[in-house]
Amino acid sequence: MASRAGAATYRASPNIALVKYWGMRDAALGLPFNSSLSLTLGRIHTTTRVRFDPGLDADRLELNGRLAVGRPREEVARFLDRVRERAGLIAQARVRSRNNFPTASGLASSASGFAALAGAATAAAGLSLDDSELSRLARLGSGSACRSVFGGFVLWEAGRRADGQDCVARQLFPASHWPELVDLVALIRDAPTKAVRSASAMQQSVATSPGYAERLAQIPSRLRRMQRAIGERDADSLFPLVIEECDSFRAVCEGTVPTLDYLTAASRRVLAAVRELNARAGRAVAAYTHDAGAHVHVFTTEGDRASVRRALARLDGVGAVRTLRAGPGGRRVASGP
Ligand code: DP6
Repeated sequence: MASRAGAATYRASPNIALVKYWGMRDAALGLPFNSSLSLTLGRIHTTTRVRFDPGLDADRLELNGRLAVGRPREEVARFLDRVRERAGLIAQARVRSRNNFPTASGLASSASGFAALAGAATAAAGLSLDDSELSRLARLGSGSACRSVFGGFVLWEAGRRADGQDCVARQLFPASHWPELVDLVALIRDAPTKAVRSASAMQQSVATSPGYAERLAQIPSRLRRMQRAIGERDADSLFPLVIEECDSFRAVCEGTVPTLDYLTAASRRVLAAVRELNARAGRAVAAYTHDAGAHVHVFTTEGDRASVRRALARLDGVGAVRTLRAGPGGRRVASGP
């Protein structure tokens, strides 16, 4: 029970999954079928301020300077209900949230958004949760948000227990582990905004995609190999695994009824360009991956950064290429947004 409710601001960054979370064994508890692995990104972030205000008769959400209504507000209100219940609070809240990158564009704003909301709302409610508890709570807003609580390379363990006690995210390696690793994000011009939340799209894949079970069976070994490659900062081993995983995720999406196609022609040109760079060099110069959106993350290392960036920037339909690196986990900040 919290004694005093106040205000707090929390900042969290999106993460890009190297092994994708896709499918829930328990939707109410947010328990996934498979473990996933991600990199939390620096430079781009969501900053959220929550203030509980006994004078309000409903939660009020301002998103990037605009009053939000409908689904986004309702999702935030539902999430705040969990926090209120835990803290024994009844006051409604003013929530101000700002992304310093495009919202709902496939840059995982729901991950940074719910991680930031969890951090700000619990602190404002007077609860003090450790990162592991905060991550479990964030997961109930958006699965991938549980990974954005931590910085660097993060493993979200699916666990096996029905009560979810063994379903936890934790940092594998800090952001400083592999400074040469770069994520060049090819921002696709006219990228469509997501029509369906991933949470429902993935359940459609579980129910209808013929390759889903086979993908699940492949993941443990892929995860182990990736963890080893990251530990050894071995791009030659890691990059082919990243591509293999992304292709497997995309195949499952495409096999879903109705089909899930997140890419545009320009996104596909990025994938082809990476394959060609690697074939020409005779080694894994780069790796592509994408989540449920059209933008493509291209991993490379410092030595190849300039040439890979040039190759991506000249592709038709690529609006800009942003250079991102590993970043820190969620944290409280003094003020804003
Ligand atoms: C493809 O649970 O984050 O990015 O909140 O609806 O966006 P939404 O879903 P979320 O699903 C993320 C799916 C993914 C893979 C991943 O990040 O692991």
